[in-house]
Amino acid sequence: MGQTPVEALSEAEAAAELAALAARLAEANAAYHVEDAPRISDAEYDALKHRNAQIEARFPHLKRADSPSEQVGAAPAEGFAKVRHAVRMLSLANAFDAGDIADFDDSIRRYLGLDAEAPLAYTAEPKIDGLSLSLRYEGGVLVQAATRGDGAEGENVTANARTIDDIPERLSGAPDLLEVRGEVYMSHDDFAALNARQAETGGKTFANPRNAAAGSLRQLDARITRARPLRFFAYSWGVLSDPLADTQMAAIARLAQLGFATNPLTARCDGPEAMLAHYTRIEAQRATLGYDIDGVVYKVDDLALQARLGFRSTTPRWAIAHKFPAELAWTRLDAIDIQVGRTGALSPVARLQPVTVGGVVVSNATLHNEDYIAGRGARGEPIRDGKDIRVGDWVQVYRAGDVIPKVADVDLSRRPADARPFVFPETCPECGSDAIREEGDAVRRCTGGLICPAQAVEKLKHFVSRAAFDIEGLGARQVEQFHADGWIAEPADIFALPDRYGTGMQQLKNREGWGEKSANNLFQAIEERRKIPLGRLIFALGIRHVGEQVSNLLARHYGTWAAFDAAMRDAAAQDGPAWEDLLAIDGVGTVLAQSLVSTLAQEAERASIERLIAHLDIQPAERPETDGSPVAGKTVVFTGTLEKMTRAEAKARAEALGAKVSGSVSAKTDIVVAGPGAGSKEKKARDLGLTILDEDGWLDLIGG
Ligand code: IVH
Repeated sequence: MGQTPVEALSEAEAAAELAALAARLAEANAAYHVEDAPRISDAEYDALKHRNAQIEARFPHLKRADSPSEQVGAAPAEGFAKVRHAVRMLSLANAFDAGDIADFDDSIRRYLGLDAEAPLAYTAEPKIDGLSLSLRYEGGVLVQAATRGDGAEGENVTANARTIDDIPERLSGAPDLLEVRGEVYMSHDDFAALNARQAETGGKTFANPRNAAAGSLRQLDARITRARPLRFFAYSWGVLSDPLADTQMAAIARLAQLGFATNPLTARCDGPEAMLAHYTRIEAQRATLGYDIDGVVYKVDDLALQARLGFRSTTPRWAIAHKFPAELAWTRLDAIDIQVGRTGALSPVARLQPVTVGGVVVSNATLHNEDYIAGRGARGEPIRDGKDIRVGDWVQVYRAGDVIPKVADVDLSRRPADARPFVFPETCPECGSDAIREEGDAVRRCTGGLICPAQAVEKLKHFVSRAAFDIEGLGARQVEQFHADGWIAEPADIFALPDRYGTGMQQLKNREGWGEKSANNLFQAIEERRKIPLGRLIFALGIRHVGEQVSNLLARHYGTWAAFDAAMRDAAAQDGPAWEDLLAIDGVGTVLAQSLVSTLAQEAERASIERLIAHLDIQPAERPETDGSPVAGKTVVFTGTLEKMTRAEAKARAEALGAKVSGSVSAKTDIVVAGPGAGSKEKKARDLGLTILDEDGWLDLIGG
């Protein structure tokens, strides 16, 4: 094309070319997205974008307000639209060995009340290492594709899914409403070719096929997705207007008949022995499949039993993932750094000579805590035969699934003569405060609280992270900069940014790396997040032990911020009805509850939260699952023998319908379900004049 190399451009030439590129790319975008009639090839488009990025990298100050690198197709600038899943997209519990599989089978039998001899079949199929996608068909036509997201809410990637050959646009003979779920992945060959192409054009290369698949599917510009060869295996479903079949195996066959790719290594097994045999078969083929798998998934075959088994908070009871053993590699430990996390935990990180483990280059690994380094377990027992870990050692590193690499072992025969035991710091390396270990805690923590800059920054990063406030344009890097410059010290300051730095002497748009447009986008993104669902807010506070799942449980339980806040104050003494009520939430244990109420009782913390919520419009939590449930909010006691279901099943179903299941009868009990042999509890219920139902009466009430 006779282009001047970027290094040889004068400033004036660069400015002129950036202007021309902005115009050409805007025109190409409009032709593609608005007129639906592309005028240039995808490769040409990519080349223009790449040239633009190169010039901007050399002349950052020439970056235009309408820079094409800030724009992503014609999709909305905030990213993908959100999609609420009609049926949640769950993850799977993990198993690692034959013992875990036997336990899985046992627990299902116990739940269903089946004895050891009763037949119970499973399916076994490869666990594809990609990302899950839910495809919604209405009247046989693909109308929506959504990523898993947090399980309850994903991203609308319909335009991108339409570019995948394995995903049919139309189905014939399908239920009127059908959500097909499965895994998007990239084959090894396609992955290698993509990385080669990316390297050639100076684009981003990917660490593994899974990242490549995720990066390609989550492109705001569908033409990029189109150029990436993604594939799809169907293995599950969400809402349906009619059942697909009676068994998992037949349902998968039906999906195949409808035109979906299903995995050919799916088999029906009549019990743990056959499941393990199929696992071995799949593992033997792993290297030659041509795509990544990370284990085998077992599912109860009978769909009526799947329905009875139902779900725990994040995983089905009827399925489990049997993971392949982690991959291992030896390398040298160059240094041990201490990082301070948002709850003050001092976490030792191994800096390693880079080594490839399972296709990914690893240069950092976690060392957990000081006992782990010293060769001691949680109860002081020796681990690794008591061998400690020293700087200079040869260590064995492994990765299991998505998790951070870990250090498994040390080779003492290669230990340098001058290697010294690692001395764990007793003061915070970031703020100098004492770092102490509480009785029974494996972790040493900085006591600096809000004065520790590391804790403050980590808290802020957590606050803006995806599952929390998810503020577009405010990532970890920006938080670090703003914090270092004193622009934000605590979450409330984020919401004051537009007022403080939108106008006046110091303006965001005048900072390096920012312009009018990006500053305004950020202010707008902040504005949009003033309205926040209660669950996200609770999670965003970053309280120790309070994860995303629990935050949503708490939000659903208390409903509003005012109710939550009042209950936490009432529970602060860790005693009394508010405390009991908190502990009664399924999924909330004592450690979590203590952390929650004690954190919220700290004066500085409370003041900071109050400053924050003054900026917010907190959305009360919905209670979708229990809407219209006849037993929502009721306290139920089961007593005597149940004949149609086990105790565990009865309890789980009642709880799923929003009821609270208690072990003892009191005036607060609403319903007592009494089976044959019920004794004193039934009598007490009679004395108190409570509603007493037999098992059939209960099943009628909850709809069978
Ligand atoms: S079944 C309700 N089957 O693994 C359970 N999942 O670790 C639905 N995955 O989120 C999942 N291969 O993305 C199922 N054959 C398979 C799978 C599979 C991969 C993924 C899926 C899930 C994750 C859980």
